[in-house]
Amino acid sequence: PQPTVNIDQGRVEASLPSGQSVTVLLYGATVTSWKLANGEEQLFLSEKAHLDGSKPVRGGIPVVFPVFGPPPKDHATSALPQHGFARNSTWEFLGKSSSESLGKDKEKADDAVKLDFGLSHSMLSEEFKNAWPYEFGLVYSVTLSKDSLTTTLQVQNKDSKAFEFQVLLHSYLNIKDISAVRIKNLQSKAYIDKTQNASEHVESSSAVEITGETDRVYKGLDPKVPIEVVSTQGDKALFSITREALNDIVVWNPWIEKAKGMSDFGPDDAYKNMVCVEAGSVAAFQTLDAADTWEGGQTIRASSQ
Ligand code: BG6
Repeated sequence: PQPTVNIDQGRVEASLPSGQSVTVLLYGATVTSWKLANGEEQLFLSEKAHLDGSKPVRGGIPVVFPVFGPPPKDHATSALPQHGFARNSTWEFLGKSSSESLGKDKEKADDAVKLDFGLSHSMLSEEFKNAWPYEFGLVYSVTLSKDSLTTTLQVQNKDSKAFEFQVLLHSYLNIKDISAVRIKNLQSKAYIDKTQNASEHVESSSAVEITGETDRVYKGLDPKVPIEVVSTQGDKALFSITREALNDIVVWNPWIEKAKGMSDFGPDDAYKNMVCVEAGSVAAFQTLDAADTWEGGQTIRASSQ
C-alpha cells in the first residue's frame, strides 16, 4: 500500500499505510494536526483557533517569515504585522512525493510522504505586497515519516537586490501536563527573556521547568544537538527536535493570564497542555543576496505519551 493524499477545501491531508497522518491548511501552510500510528495527536491546536483564514492559526505549526515578533522600526519589515505574512497568506499545493523518490528503499515505499507548498510575491495580498516589495519564492516541505515530522523552508531571492529575513517554525507541542515535562539541552546557552524587558541570561538548568509565563529566545545553538521535551515520569523523550541551519530556539508558554487574554486560545487552562518549542533564525536578520537560496528546517521525533 502507498501513502494517501487528499486535497479538500483548502487543506491537504496525508496518511501512511501504518496509520500516521498530517493535515496542512493552505492558509499559512500551517500544519494543524500530526498523529502517530495509534492516533495520538502530537500538536496542540486551540479549541478557539480560527481555521477559516481570518486570523493566523493558534496552534499546529505556523510559519513565521520574514520577521519574528513585532517588526523593528526603520527596517524593510516595519510595515508588516507581528510574525510577518507567511502564516496569514494562502499558499499553493505544489504536489507530493513518496519515499521512493525521497531516496529510500523501494520496499519501504510506504514509509514517508512529502508535501510541498509554495508562496511567492504575486500571491500576496496588496497590503503585504506593498509592505514587503521583494520578489521571492518560498517552498515549504512537510515530510511525514513513521515517528517523525520534518518541515523545511527554502527561501529564494528572485529580486535584483538583497533582502533581510528571519524565520521560525512556531511548533505548538501537545503535552498532557506542563508540570510533568522538562526541556533538555539548553544548559549554558545564552537567552533573551522577553517577559523581562529582553534582558540577557544564561541558562543554568539541565532540565528547564515551566512554572509561569515563559517567552525566551535561546541563541546560537548547535542544530545537530536535539532539544528534548522529556517526561518527569521515566525521563522519556516525548519530543526530540533536530534542526538544519536554524540556530535559535524560542520557548513560549503564555501561562494563566496571557492565555485568558488571547481571544483565540481555549479552553482557558489549555496552557497546561502545550509548550511551544520553536526552531528558528531570529536572534538577528540574515541577508539573502539577489538570486540566492537559503534552506533550513526541523525534524520533530515523537514518542507515544
Ligand atoms: C512567540 C513569541 O514566538 O509567539 C511570543 O516569542 C508571542 O512573544 C507568541 O507572544 C505568540 O504570538 P502570536 O502573534 O501568535 O500571538
